[in-house]
Amino acid sequence: MELRPLTPADLPAAAQTFMVTFNAAPWNEAWTLESASTCLSDLLATPRAACLGAWEAGQCLGAVLGHDLIRDRGVSHQISEMFILPLAQRRGVGRALMTRHLAEAESRGVGSVHLLTARDSSAEAFYSELNFRRARQQIMLVRP
Ligand SMILES: CC(C)(COP(=O)(O)OP(=O)(O)OC[C@H]1O[C@@H](n2cnc3c(N)ncnc32)[C@H](O)[C@@H]1OP(=O)(O)O)[C@@H](O)C(=O)NCCC(=O)NCCS
Repeated sequence: MELRPLTPADLPAAAQTFMVTFNAAPWNEAWTLESASTCLSDLLATPRAACLGAWEAGQCLGAVLGHDLIRDRGVSHQISEMFILPLAQRRGVGRALMTRHLAEAESRGVGSVHLLTARDSSAEAFYSELNFRRARQQIMLVRP
């Protein structure tokens, strides 16, 4: 398996993997190749984006996309998307990707990392394993 930064040329393969992953259980979302490609393309174009993909035999096994944010006391990193193809899950690919992504963030001087995910989900179990914890003070507000 190879880990390398995602580039615009990787978008078709990464969008296919993103769509298949999030349209499957437990997320059961409704992505099309077009919406998935636009979503990832926008994230790649975000200022201070950092995006890493995992590849095997020309196939995108998964990726993590985020960007650095300038805050009052330093730089924080927001992870916007993280996905591993269902057939490749539970093989350590997510751990390898996130470990590299976090090490690279640290080397850029990032002081904290945050993300949103579903409560009590397999994703939360994955992030907990990597020492993420629930925020103590912040909550997410939505409407309607
Ligand atoms: C969550 C996800 C990124 C994890 O990637 P992965 O490559 O399957 O995870 P890894 O194999 O590296 O797992 C590392 C550790 O995380 C934990 N973990 C991973 N998946 C888990 C699951 N389904 N249930 C419980 N714990 C899990 C385990 O502790 C695991 O170590 P172990 O296999 O030695 O027990 C992947 O399952 C995925 O893409 N899911 C669908 C999309 C998603 O939920 N994205 C995140 C939403 S923001």
